[in-house]
Amino acid sequence: MASPAGAVARKLYSAEELAQVPQIAIDGALGVASPLRHAGIEPGDTVLDLGCGYGIDTILAARHTGPAGRVIALDFLPAMLARTADAVAQAGLHNVDTLHADIEDIPCLTTALTRSSPTASSICARARHACSPNAAVCSGPAESCASPT
Ligand SMILES: C[S@@+](CC[C@H](N)C(=O)[O-])C[C@H]1O[C@@H](n2cnc3c(N)ncnc32)[C@H](O)[C@@H]1O
Repeated sequence: MASPAGAVARKLYSAEELAQVPQIAIDGALGVASPLRHAGIEPGDTVLDLGCGYGIDTILAARHTGPAGRVIALDFLPAMLARTADAVAQAGLHNVDTLHADIEDIPCLTTALTRSSPTASSICARARHACSPNAAVCSGPAESCASPT
């Protein structure tokens, strides 16, 4: 049976987080965590949201980076990019770009994900190392995030 609109978001995100996000992104949220709580995003950072869906994490990330930063919202489904763009416009944000692409076409991530790896944290550590020494990679809870040391 389908969950009522917004049920996933209400389970995963705090009331404070949800207050920063338009209803369209709340209703369409389909994630498994609130990864940004653990990503340590600072004002001015650049964030790549892999699989942006309806944009809930894109919008929260764009609030964290502020206007000096930037969020690239990537998805391989044009319909999802359109929904993220709608939500971004409703939120009044100007620091988000959408990108139509397949995660599997990003060589450094593909390398990290296809090598056998027992834990999410080791996948993230490999992805971070492969992409940039200054990057943080986060897929959800704190134990699956890798940051510069
Ligand atoms: C479970 S949704 C999560 C969306 C959002 N982060 C949220 O929490 O609601 C996953 C998204 O990833 C996208 N996706 C899945 N595989 C992908 C791939 N290989 N390349 C790009 N996007 C992908 C899907 O189209 C979908 O929009």
